[in-house]
Amino acid sequence: MDDANGLLSPSASTKRGRDPIFAMLSKCQAAAAAGADVVNGTIGALLEDDGTLAINATYVDAIKASTSLDVAAYSPLSGLSEFNDLLVELALGPERTGLLQSLSAKAMATPGGGGALRLTAANLVEQGGVVLMRERHWGPYLGFLGEAGLQRRTWPLLGPNGADVDLEGFTAALRTTVGEQHQVLVWLNDPAHNPTGLSMQPDSRADVLDAMVHSALEHPEVGHSLMIDAAYTLYAEEPHGWATTLAEAMDAGMMWPENLMLFWAVSLSKSHTAYGARCGGLVALHPEEEALSRVYEAFAVTGRGTWSGPPRAPQSAAVGVHQDPELAATWGERLEVLSELLVRRRAALVAACDTHGVPLNPTHDGFFAWLEHSRASDVVDFCAARHVYLVALDGGVRIGLCAMPEASMNRVAEVMAEALEVLA
Ligand SMILES: Cc1ncc(COP(=O)(O)O)c(C=O)c1O
Repeated sequence: MDDANGLLSPSASTKRGRDPIFAMLSKCQAAAAAGADVVNGTIGALLEDDGTLAINATYVDAIKASTSLDVAAYSPLSGLSEFNDLLVELALGPERTGLLQSLSAKAMATPGGGGALRLTAANLVEQGGVVLMRERHWGPYLGFLGEAGLQRRTWPLLGPNGADVDLEGFTAALRTTVGEQHQVLVWLNDPAHNPTGLSMQPDSRADVLDAMVHSALEHPEVGHSLMIDAAYTLYAEEPHGWATTLAEAMDAGMMWPENLMLFWAVSLSKSHTAYGARCGGLVALHPEEEALSRVYEAFAVTGRGTWSGPPRAPQSAAVGVHQDPELAATWGERLEVLSELLVRRRAALVAACDTHGVPLNPTHDGFFAWLEHSRASDVVDFCAARHVYLVALDGGVRIGLCAMPEASMNRVAEVMAEALEVLA
């Protein structure tokens, strides 16, 4: 029944689908319940080796200790001002002071990084247009686009010889879009890309920024927005790499076109292990305060009309943790421990894939690794039949390092190698 007896509007009746990640997770859980020795690489949350959710207790405890007022009262619609200040800090890190000498920053709290994506989709491109992103991306991006009446235009994830950027692909996509739209919006999930774990290196970041600046200068009539989706950034080797790239470009005399705005979608879901708290925000930089205020006025209207206001207690708790040097240090130490867990798991997987001849994609940071494959579903089904549960996405297999113990990596690589041989 396509329209539920006419209840669904025509546009809503095209909304379909069961999330492939949850479908495979259910299969894995059923097998585990039936006594199978499973490896569960389907989950997108960081788990301890024993399969329990990894928690950064400093932040979670701070939420639990929230005052009645923080639980009960509304947050200002754009967030608590101290939290907005923290968002800028989380996005820019040590580069903040330098960058804010010549630029202004603005931030708005949203229910997670997803809310930040929504704000940009709803306001920075005309309906019917496209948002630029790499070919491999977090699946729900399509949902955010669909809800905003947008489509995607992609460029390849990797450049020639496995380079971490396809600059030609990017500039071509940019050029085409600039010729078609009055606004161009780019979503770049970097570093620690979901679903591959790829992190762009400094030269590649500089090239992408340079391409955006040049395009904006050449097309002053077209608004240019580059949004760094920083959902996993605090688990990366260079958590504030984009701010550093920008600072270096500014030091080298970069001319900031007034029709260019840079954004960071900040999420506390992973960095603070608070997936369900729905806490994050959108940070922007631009030389003119007025331009920022006008854009954020529009964002505030979208927020009001979509989720009303952001939850207040998680904002207050984050401010409390980060303003207290001891709590901030404890949170940071735990983040370090969790990052090292991921480093060890990734190193074990990469080594095992090397041993078994599995051509894993370049992978550096964050929660995932990736095997590019045109028959991803067949690979995943083969692995699942051997109780190694992975996720088939467009163009490849997502391997959830975040959910699998280091000791299981050899088995995962072995089973993938078998699958590749059988399907060759
Ligand atoms: C690439 C990417 N961006 C953004 C998000 C948004 O996360 P949240 O809305 O929980 O902050 C996620 C969550 O999985 C993600 O993987």
